[in-house]
Amino acid sequence: MCRHLAYVGPPVPLARLLTEPPHSLYEQSWRPARQRHGTVNADGFGVGWYPVELPEGPEGSRGHAEGRGEGAAGDDAGFPFPARYRRAVPIWADANFTELARAVRSGAVLAAVRSATEGTTQDESAAAPFRDGRWLFSHNGAVADWTRLPVGDLTAQQMLAMESRSDSALLWAMLAARLRRGEAPSAAMAAVIRQVAAHRPGARLNFLLTDGRTITASAFGDTLWYRTGPGHVVVASEPDDAPGPWQEVPDRSLLVATEYGVRIIPLRPERGTDRKEPHPMTESRFTLDDRLPADYLTRALHEDVRAGLRTPPRTLPPKWFYDKRGSDLFEQITRLSEYYPTRAEQEILTRRAAEIAALTRAATLIELGSGSSRKTRLLLDALTAGGTLRRYAPLDVSGAALSEAGEAICRDYPGLDVTATVADFEHGLALSDEPGPRMLAFLGSTIGNFDPEQRRAFYRTLSLALTSDDVLLLGADLVKDPEVLVRAYDDAAGVTAEFNKNVLHVINRELGANFDPEGFDHVALWNTEEERIEMRLRARRAQTVKIPDVDLSVDFAEGEDLRTEISSKFRRESLTAELKEGGFTVRHWWTDSAGRFALLLAVPN
Ligand code: AVJ
Repeated sequence: MCRHLAYVGPPVPLARLLTEPPHSLYEQSWRPARQRHGTVNADGFGVGWYPVELPEGPEGSRGHAEGRGEGAAGDDAGFPFPARYRRAVPIWADANFTELARAVRSGAVLAAVRSATEGTTQDESAAAPFRDGRWLFSHNGAVADWTRLPVGDLTAQQMLAMESRSDSALLWAMLAARLRRGEAPSAAMAAVIRQVAAHRPGARLNFLLTDGRTITASAFGDTLWYRTGPGHVVVASEPDDAPGPWQEVPDRSLLVATEYGVRIIPLRPERGTDRKEPHPMTESRFTLDDRLPADYLTRALHEDVRAGLRTPPRTLPPKWFYDKRGSDLFEQITRLSEYYPTRAEQEILTRRAAEIAALTRAATLIELGSGSSRKTRLLLDALTAGGTLRRYAPLDVSGAALSEAGEAICRDYPGLDVTATVADFEHGLALSDEPGPRMLAFLGSTIGNFDPEQRRAFYRTLSLALTSDDVLLLGADLVKDPEVLVRAYDDAAGVTAEFNKNVLHVINRELGANFDPEGFDHVALWNTEEERIEMRLRARRAQTVKIPDVDLSVDFAEGEDLRTEISSKFRRESLTAELKEGGFTVRHWWTDSAGRFALLLAVPN
């Protein structure tokens, strides 16, 4: 029953997708090739599309509050509002549509041709796509005896807001209620499918959902295919004959697609409910995927040293602190009485981990710069207790740290897949087929090591890698009394000074340099203008340092600084604003009891 199609990519005329290709949706309405049930799809059709440009003013993004059940106003802010064209006649009987389709262009489309289920409304209100706010939805399939289907906790208002009397509109009400509660699309879709299948094992539930940016779809009882090309993706019940390789999605799986790629997630039965799979989650696996070329770190260090030390003002990126000794020193720093950020973040995580787990229902936890993964355990505990977590995916430049931490986590969390990746996320994220929803955690205020421009690039990398299904969990240290800040970076025992000078040991060892760590003083200063701590190494006397491996001889004047780290401190308003600008909406903001540190949960705009 029914054929449907969704597209996200560069704007194209609707005709290019729907009527022009051989065996397009148009032709599939009377001659479907792979449809498993029914014959012709002549009971109506519909197309929903998103405008290429977001209209100005409040009407543009928020003019669609009408026709919605309840609450969540502002949820759709920033999203273009889709238009629909639906008819109760066969698509081939509407010559107006064929003309319209040649003239209307869009970068996000969802279309369907309908074959009606018995006992449903026959007018255009029953033709997909259904809509709620920014969402468009179509259902290909049928639910037997659907008027008697238990629907969980839908309110009367949600039932009455149904667009038509049909199984599809009912399924949409169930799914939309979950989306409005903030559930990730894939989690919401999986939950509705489980809920319906529990009562109607024969139900066919091929769903297609989009917000104009991400396409989420299910293959459950009928066919589903997708095709990707440069910057675009098409998801459809069956292939058209347009050029490009189509791939079939296995039955009983979800698909999450954006213009950047596609993830297929097997729909596993709820844990413990499937007798044929007695121990579905007891095998754990650890894999380590090294994405860095063999000489990557050496080359990067060469470049950073050449670029940073040749001329004043001299700087080095902080990532070179962290060899074995540097990582040990940092561990010691986190236990110093002066260094509050680690404890403050841990306090928030301890208090909020269960809430975060319930809010996100994450199936994958991706962690950037995971290091020893100590704080991660609070999240892993909560997410495994919540029953949703299947995979932990740490990403770090240090393979050694990853295998040590990864193996330990594998031992301690039976049933969890640990897929570690050695990569440098400054050059893109190596995300692929992780089950969703995914939570990407970037903790410890490591974001503070980036200057504003690097942060913009970082947000861009993230928003390219994440879909509307995913969330970002970010730890950020806050602006506070400069005395407290300076003490945190210049402790009485001198551990931070040792940590700072460690970068000189690293360069001596890796590049054959002759830095005298005694010839430099550790300096931590508060930059009022930029609102950041800067760690520097200040030359105690004039000196020349030779760095043979990069052919460099560096003359330091007495009192000259080498800046080794910036540690930016944040304010709620400006961090929220720059995230918005970078493609993320902050949904939750938690701080420790003393208000020193923030942990925030953000979703892609
Ligand atoms: C790990 C980057 C968050 O900036 O506070 C600690 C590193 N430097 N003491 C920070 C650090 C000096 C730390 N980060």
